[in-house]
Amino acid sequence: MSGQRESRIIGQWRARGQEHLFASWRRRSAEKKKALLNDLDSLNVDLYEHLLRQLHRQLSDTGQHRIEPIPPISEAEWREDEAGRRKGEELLAAGKAAFLTVAGGQGSRLGFEGPKGCFPISPIRDASIFQIFAEKLLAARKRYDRSLYWYIMTSPLNLEQTRLFFESNAYFGLPEEEVLFFSQGLFPTLTVQGKLLLAEDGGLFQNPNGHGGTSAALQDSGCLDHMSVRGVEELFYFQVDNPLVRIPDPHFLGVHRLQDSQMSSKVIEKTYPEEKIGVIGYVDGKPAVIEYSDFAEEQMRARDEQGNLLYSHGSIAIHLFNLDFLASHGGRLPLHTTQKKIRTWIPEEGGGAVEEREAIKFEMFIFDALATAGNPLFFETSREEEFAPLKNRTGRDSIETCRQGMINLYSRWLKSCGVEVPMRGGRPIHRVEISPTFAWDAKSLGESLKHRLPYTVNRIDEDTLLV
Ligand code: UTP
Repeated sequence: MSGQRESRIIGQWRARGQEHLFASWRRRSAEKKKALLNDLDSLNVDLYEHLLRQLHRQLSDTGQHRIEPIPPISEAEWREDEAGRRKGEELLAAGKAAFLTVAGGQGSRLGFEGPKGCFPISPIRDASIFQIFAEKLLAARKRYDRSLYWYIMTSPLNLEQTRLFFESNAYFGLPEEEVLFFSQGLFPTLTVQGKLLLAEDGGLFQNPNGHGGTSAALQDSGCLDHMSVRGVEELFYFQVDNPLVRIPDPHFLGVHRLQDSQMSSKVIEKTYPEEKIGVIGYVDGKPAVIEYSDFAEEQMRARDEQGNLLYSHGSIAIHLFNLDFLASHGGRLPLHTTQKKIRTWIPEEGGGAVEEREAIKFEMFIFDALATAGNPLFFETSREEEFAPLKNRTGRDSIETCRQGMINLYSRWLKSCGVEVPMRGGRPIHRVEISPTFAWDAKSLGESLKHRLPYTVNRIDEDTLLV
């Protein structure tokens, strides 16, 4: 490493009040020096100053905004839209829709070693979340007889592990060239005073830049070009933590397209006012998803004249983006901050120590794109059919509730096909799992039960796996 480069980088960041980064520099190991110099060299000074301005703005923000409710399109209305369904099927058959999973999060609440998509979640096979998504796409490819591209966003911290997982599972039967990985950017974590912090490896303490990093990363990685060369016009976005996501859902796609929406989002009705879910509403006249932590209690509980919750619907992070819109807004999304305790490395003579410190984490949120999208639409959907997030080890939105959500859904499909499903305490007695390649909804299950099994299923008397 050239001495010139070292002095340039150190000089540049000393001039920005970051001399603490170089404390006891001469005694630092070569690896630690290299890690820091590389990180600082790739840290864009404009970005750092942008974060700093946001930090000051946030500290002085009064939080006073005008909020009004947004009524979504009811599920009964859009699911009945036959022209919408036909349009969606036409887009899929023409290869004009692609799929995007955001999987760059740190999954700290789940505490699983490895990317969240590798978590073995299915009730009987223990299939990973990635496998379940892959099977949904396999089924869709077969149905529409078309290549369907799947883009997976990771962070630089979990890219390799994610790629290896797919490689070692032979891409779950998908053609390798239809699964593309790309990595989102990182933001440095700062102290409240705007100081950069160090990680244990001696480099900067950084975090993935949020799911809002998607559009910039799609652009930078060349994935946007990859899509447009292949004629993709609409992008179906979903999170890695929801194995129930309904893909491809031609109705959703087609109604969004027929109404010339640049961004559409699925929402569900809240079960109780304080439910921790981002609600939809106009903020200062612009459509938005308002994080539950930013929502005042009286607004959470506010009711209309009929006694219904005023802010009744929350986002489940399933969106459709028109590709031209995604390309045009170029990833310029607002910054959000959260204060959290982190473990940072403090350099000192004799090696230094790792200490807990309060820090500010910066992120961008993809749903902020709603504010600039043409004709944004909100589609109400059913929680039981589409949403069982895996966030925590135990309790709410946990491994258990996610698996149970899958069992409940498959059992309901079986019942709607006339199969008896014995219940105890409101739950199916036996575990049930249906691979998406066997059926992707109740109707396709009816057909597969009739044509693909050499026997008739009348009643579920034991754990049942249909693949
Ligand atoms: P969460 O907000 O649940 O965050 O992400 P997380 O990092 O996965 O989990 P915790 O909070 O540490 O427990 C919602 C979705 O957005 C993706 C996640 O992978 C998940 O699919 N995400 C989040 C990214 O792709 N990048 C990010 O920087 C943050």
